[in-house]
Amino acid sequence: MVTISRIRIKRFVGASIRWKILLAFFVIVGLSFAVAATNLTGLVRDYLFEQKTREDSLLTAKAAAAAAPFFDTADPEEIHRVLAENAQSMDGRLMLIDQDGKVQYDTMRDMSGRRLQMEEVLLVLTGSSEQAYGIHSPGEPGTSGMGGSDYNGQLAYSVHAMDGENGQIGALLFVSRIQSLMDSLGTVQLQLISVFVLIAIAALVLALIISQVVTKPITNLSRTMRKMGKGDLSVRVPVRGSGELRELAENYNTMAAHLERLDKTRSQFVSNASHELKTPLATMKIMLETVMYQPDMPAELRAEFMQDMNHEIDRLTGIITDLLTLTKMDSETGEMKKEPVDMSALTTEVIHHLRPVAEKRGQRMESNIVSDLVMPGDRDRLYQILYNLADNAIKYSPDGGRIAVSLRTEEDGLVWRVRDNGVGIPAEDQEHIFERFYRVDKARSRETGGTGLGLSIVKQLVTMHGGEITVHSEPGRGSEFKVVFPQGGTAS
Ligand SMILES: Nc1ncnc2c1ncn2[C@@H]1O[C@H](COP(=O)(O)OP(=O)(O)O)[C@@H](O)[C@H]1O
Ligand SMILES: [Mg+2]
Repeated sequence: MVTISRIRIKRFVGASIRWKILLAFFVIVGLSFAVAATNLTGLVRDYLFEQKTREDSLLTAKAAAAAAPFFDTADPEEIHRVLAENAQSMDGRLMLIDQDGKVQYDTMRDMSGRRLQMEEVLLVLTGSSEQAYGIHSPGEPGTSGMGGSDYNGQLAYSVHAMDGENGQIGALLFVSRIQSLMDSLGTVQLQLISVFVLIAIAALVLALIISQVVTKPITNLSRTMRKMGKGDLSVRVPVRGSGELRELAENYNTMAAHLERLDKTRSQFVSNASHELKTPLATMKIMLETVMYQPDMPAELRAEFMQDMNHEIDRLTGIITDLLTLTKMDSETGEMKKEPVDMSALTTEVIHHLRPVAEKRGQRMESNIVSDLVMPGDRDRLYQILYNLADNAIKYSPDGGRIAVSLRTEEDGLVWRVRDNGVGIPAEDQEHIFERFYRVDKARSRETGGTGLGLSIVKQLVTMHGGEITVHSEPGRGSEFKVVFPQGGTAS
């Protein structure tokens, strides 16, 4: 039982914003009301008591003055009459006390002859004060029977000195019930409590509404996140209201959209990659089976098949290398070598490596390299950029074509240009050639051993170096790829 309730409390405190808002509301409303109510009842009580004290004192003084002459002359008849009349109009009990503190006359009679020891009476009899006033609860010493036999509530005692011809002759005590006063106080308190209950109910309703408004977007968000966590990336949160919660919903949706896009690209990439890998494998299988099931195949034909298979294996290796390069770049964001690279030497080296390939096809490879240009970066990756571009230029130019590579500084930074007079790229394809696996002419590209990954790798490498790549091309006339490194030449 104990643990259950403790768990419940923990849940209550820890679980829901809604409950916290409700609780906060109640604490605030309850506390402020308690303070206000205490102050208010205090004020009312003070006011009522003060009024009562003033009234009683005045009446007692009057009665004392009226009775004094008869007490002085010891006229019991008259004293009785005066006291009885006054007691009735004052709605209380009057006692006449002599200087020794003994009750001489009592309108209720049963205290006659008794000696009163109460503070207020002593104060007046000893002459320290003309009058005294006090309120006493039942049970305090000297109070028993003072309110009459049938009453045991609080009593007010008002005492006033009585003066005769030769100075003070005693005191008059007026005892009155203050139940009606307490009752009005009770009424006030009761009214306050009912107001409090009303306010509390209103606060509860308001808190419920507010907490609903506040928590709804959060509940929505967490429901959506749960769905997304289970794999449904298409879900979005409704964007409503204003302020932080709206911003939260919008930001979340942006993130979700990004994730969805990423997920799509990724699965598309995987399916493209599998497809690319399957094609050479299928070709190889056919060729292999042909060789296997035709043992009497002429030797030259067999050699040709073997050569084709070798070519397919090269292609496979190329694709896998490119894929590995891409995934490696994807996983290591930001951490790239940054050392001074002699771009002039690097460009010369790329041309030196590719010139034989071009010459094999009767192509002319020209270069225009400004010497001693240095830039911070990753040498191997910069090499890969230019190699891929020059390799494309050779591949997509006819035999006997012309390829020009240049390196120099321009206004916007260090610039590489790779130009050819080859097939060119149609305008509608130009914006796509940097996408993974995109090829303008599938058959031709495959024939030349292309994977469609080269330019996407180039683009990523250029971006990693803070550069930009653009293409200008006219189908049938040739293409020019331009790479700009804005901070180029300022090697640290
Ligand atoms: N210099 C170029 N001239 C004409 N087309 C080109 C050139 N460079 C690239 N392309 C086109 O862009 C496509 C993508 O290039 P790339 O990513 O390097 O793939 P790949 O060379 O493996 O086919 C190529 O398939 C080709 O259609
Ligand atoms: Mg290529």
